[in-house]
Amino acid sequence: MQHESVWLATADRRAHPPIEGRLAIDIVVVGAGITGLTTALLAQQEGAHVAVLEARRVGSGTTGGTTGKVTSQHGLIYADLVGRHGFDTARRYAQANEAGLERVGTLIDEHGLDCGFTRAPAFVYSRSDEMAHEIAAEAQQAAALGLPARLNRDTGLPFDAPVAIRFDEQAHLHAGRYLTGLAKAFTDAGGQIFEGSRVTGVDDIGDSAVEVTVEGHVVRAERCVVATLLPIGLIGGCFARTTPARSYGLAVRLQGEAPTTMTITADSPTYSTRPWPDAGPNGLIVVGHGHAVGADVDTTEQYSALERWARATFDVEAIDYRWSAQDYATTDRLPYVGRVPLRPRVLVATGFAKWGLTNGTAAAMMLTDLLAERESPWLPAFDVGRIGDVGSVIETAKANLGNTVDFVKDRLTGSTPTCTHLGCGLHWNPAETSWDCPCHGSRFTEQGEVIEGPAVRPLDLS
Ligand code: FES
Repeated sequence: MQHESVWLATADRRAHPPIEGRLAIDIVVVGAGITGLTTALLAQQEGAHVAVLEARRVGSGTTGGTTGKVTSQHGLIYADLVGRHGFDTARRYAQANEAGLERVGTLIDEHGLDCGFTRAPAFVYSRSDEMAHEIAAEAQQAAALGLPARLNRDTGLPFDAPVAIRFDEQAHLHAGRYLTGLAKAFTDAGGQIFEGSRVTGVDDIGDSAVEVTVEGHVVRAERCVVATLLPIGLIGGCFARTTPARSYGLAVRLQGEAPTTMTITADSPTYSTRPWPDAGPNGLIVVGHGHAVGADVDTTEQYSALERWARATFDVEAIDYRWSAQDYATTDRLPYVGRVPLRPRVLVATGFAKWGLTNGTAAAMMLTDLLAERESPWLPAFDVGRIGDVGSVIETAKANLGNTVDFVKDRLTGSTPTCTHLGCGLHWNPAETSWDCPCHGSRFTEQGEVIEGPAVRPLDLS
């Protein structure tokens, strides 16, 4: 079994050079995942000159580790969004994600991207009829919001689900090939991509420009889009209003044919499935067992538990790949997309809560509207400056405080390296052989190099 995302292992990834010296450009995008590359392509197509800076390789962050579902079916969310934010805001979220799904399809058609985009229904189900009322309410609200949702139990799974919702005309794709295709379409349109170029600073230069720093190299632009999963450093204060979670994935070959549907359980722990067409009709992707980053859990056991579920549920012949990926959720379940308060030349998008292929594409559409000074009908739902659910913000702050207390203890006993973002104590993750930060999710290699932010500087392990 290969310990690598199936999408990255099986995509033909063209290399791009690192940034050198100084560059002046209209728009600089930080991060070459779904949000960054889609924004870059759309803005370049509209006539702007755009450069993308990527710390590692195209797609090497969370998009490369996605389940690869392109769907507005996000577990149980719509009834909750209506309850928390009202019908209009929930409808904006629903419409943005349906539009994100359709835009992925049109980008694939326009640019002839070969990424296995396949329409399929997406189900959310429970194995307990105790959730019947909640699931019925979700189906009713989702349909009222205009989504293609209805109660339907034909999940295609090899067991009966007493309650389930079906979303029609959703899709799945090969995330690595989609990103590679987006990158090629962008460079074919005249855009520039620089890999191995970790941004360490984004500074406003008066009222007219932004300077982005990469280890002594500088890009000056009119606007900067920070699309780094969680904005790096302190940008937008998003780190204080989001929580990171890690999920695990397997690419599996079954002895018989795999379900052609996409499914996710509303129960805990979460199990999500979709077909894996590269392996033929017997291929299946299984994702789940998420937990808070840096939590005191045996990360190796998460793979084992996921495998046990796969083997107990299906006739598994072989497991070819395993991997894990990280994502952030906001305290009020809506992503942050738009201009950073008091920094109108800096734009961000984060908090997709594991639904980044549609949320990230929708975010890119909104960011492109902002870059072109156009109105976007969905943006009011994604306001970066909102405080959100005050109770949840306080809970997040308390959790961070607890992590900080642990950090002080660790520091006094000298028992752990400390994160270069805001100094929390790191936890060793044996499954991924990385140092993980429980506060805001930064991760570092065993040698201390940054894997993912918001930290931008390596550990001091001396
Ligand atoms: Fe913020 Fe580590 S990620 S302190």
